[in-house]
Amino acid sequence: MRARRFTVEPGASILETLRAGGVDLPSSCEEGICGTCETRVLAGEPEHRDHVLTDDERAAGATMMLCVSRSRTPELVLDL
Ligand code: FES
Repeated sequence: MRARRFTVEPGASILETLRAGGVDLPSSCEEGICGTCETRVLAGEPEHRDHVLTDDERAAGATMMLCVSRSRTPELVLDL
């Protein structure tokens, strides 16, 4: 897929923002507990707000849950 850039507003989730932009993504709970929306992070540092990842996985920052988690860095690059 070609690279696309989205701006996530404070009141919106990454998942909502991407869907509004036409990206079709799977989800289920949308509360950070099922893991369905887990997505690979290619660059940037996620701010994890889910209940799925272990502490080690959080520290690694290789994946994140798009329904609840946000970004600590100005930009995240995701493998969608
Ligand atoms: Fe369940 Fe995101 S949809 S963790």
